[in-house]
Amino acid sequence: MKKDFQLPVKKPALIDLGRIDEVLEGIDLSQDPPEDEHLRQYYFIKKTRMLADSLKADRGRDLTFHVNTFGCQMNAKDSEKLSGVLKASGFTETEEEDADFVLFNTCTVRDNADQRVFGRLGRISHFKKANRDMKIGICGCMMQEASNVEKIKKSYPFVDLIFGTHNIYRFAEYLFQVMSEDRKVIQIWDKTDQVVEDLPSDRKFSFKAGVNISFGCNNFCTYCIVPYVRGRERSRDAREILQECERLVKDGVSEIMLLGQNVNSYGHDLEDGITFPELLEEAAHIEGLKRLRFMTPHPKDFSEELIQVIKRNPNVTRHIHLPLQSGSTRIIKKMNRHYTKDQYIALVRHIREEIPDAAITTDIIVGFPGETPEDVDDTIDVIRRAQFDNAFTFIYSIRRGTPAAGWEQVPEEEKKTQFGRVLKEVQESARRQSEKLQGKTMTGLVEEVNTQTQGYVTARLSNNMIVHVPGDASMIGSFYPIHLEECRGFYYFGTVCGDRC
Ligand code: 5AD
Ligand code: SF4
Repeated sequence: MKKDFQLPVKKPALIDLGRIDEVLEGIDLSQDPPEDEHLRQYYFIKKTRMLADSLKADRGRDLTFHVNTFGCQMNAKDSEKLSGVLKASGFTETEEEDADFVLFNTCTVRDNADQRVFGRLGRISHFKKANRDMKIGICGCMMQEASNVEKIKKSYPFVDLIFGTHNIYRFAEYLFQVMSEDRKVIQIWDKTDQVVEDLPSDRKFSFKAGVNISFGCNNFCTYCIVPYVRGRERSRDAREILQECERLVKDGVSEIMLLGQNVNSYGHDLEDGITFPELLEEAAHIEGLKRLRFMTPHPKDFSEELIQVIKRNPNVTRHIHLPLQSGSTRIIKKMNRHYTKDQYIALVRHIREEIPDAAITTDIIVGFPGETPEDVDDTIDVIRRAQFDNAFTFIYSIRRGTPAAGWEQVPEEEKKTQFGRVLKEVQESARRQSEKLQGKTMTGLVEEVNTQTQGYVTARLSNNMIVHVPGDASMIGSFYPIHLEECRGFYYFGTVCGDRC
């Protein structure tokens, strides 16, 4: 009879790649793969690691990998997990795209994201001609669309592995199949009810991290592909979220970003679940957590309770990203966003009264089907009245399968003209807001060495503003008081004016 499969810890509370050897030691490869999803993936990590060891010995060199990430913070977070599995399986990361294993983690929110992926895929095909053992994988949102998978099978036949968003936690298993068998692996699921989180993760930054609180979206904004490629909203258990945050803080993380497609509807799908404001409050009280961010809230769910939680917890950052999408009530309705122009303006005013030092940023789409210049006038009116501190402005992109794709479209030229008007307004607003900070001293977390200006590092303020200051790599991960000297639109040049704080 087979022994019960056991690990030192039942659900490896991993995250930390440093503990991987200890976890893998408890895995017996003489058994069949376990059914528990976590254990199963560790089983395949161990198998790939053995295979990688023999390949390294044969080739007399390391096995390298490169993960190319497109899209949002959720994708960046997923890529940390993909890299974690690759490192745990015996691969070494490289900046170059001619690695032994190259993985594209894709985004499909707008068409230009798709085109960038196809462009890069085309370019790496010649690396494969030089290295016949090279393996190429592609995953993420784009793969949830059958037409993209077909296109890759037909036009990019050198791709070895294709998988989607719902089964990303199975990556270790697919990696083993691709490395051990000379065949393509294509695995797309159309949904999952599992939340499998505790797998190895290779965090890009030691001092800041994202933590998933929910996956998917139930809002079905009529332009948006996300609910179709990421599925219905699934909230993670609050205890697991808070435990992950605590572990990260113990591990030296000072800034956490809670991540979800629509964070403030968190918990609606859980029986006895807590609400987002309650979760935020709990997380803000974690000892040693200096900064807590969240992305992305929806204006329709932005409650008074949430505003008060932000207000009374100074470590919740003074930055609220509040996607407007359009300032025209008529278009907002067609977008299925459930607020009016006036309600949005009132919400921004109220946030500014309650939390005057909070920066408010937004997303705007120009050229939504049926949008007239008068609708764009409304958007511009909201930009002026909300005084956005920054904004991402997008030209509407048709996403097949969404309701808006079937509606009468705005001509491309017209979209560009209107986009120019909005962009100008947004830039002026960002500059006006940024200039208000001139001469102030604010606390910045140094994130990286500045690659553009030698001898400088780049810090981020609580309000998400970027400041470049003279400094070196030893400052990365620390907080400093920074004097804001020269406004350059939506960022600053400044100087450190005190000790680490
Ligand atoms: N076209 C243009 N922009 C879009 N976004 C989402 N879907 C589309 C689309 N089809 C933008 C929204 C969203 C941001 C992440 O991407 O502004 O807030
Ligand atoms: Fe897309 Fe709307 Fe959901 Fe955001 S809230 S992911 S825009 S459907």
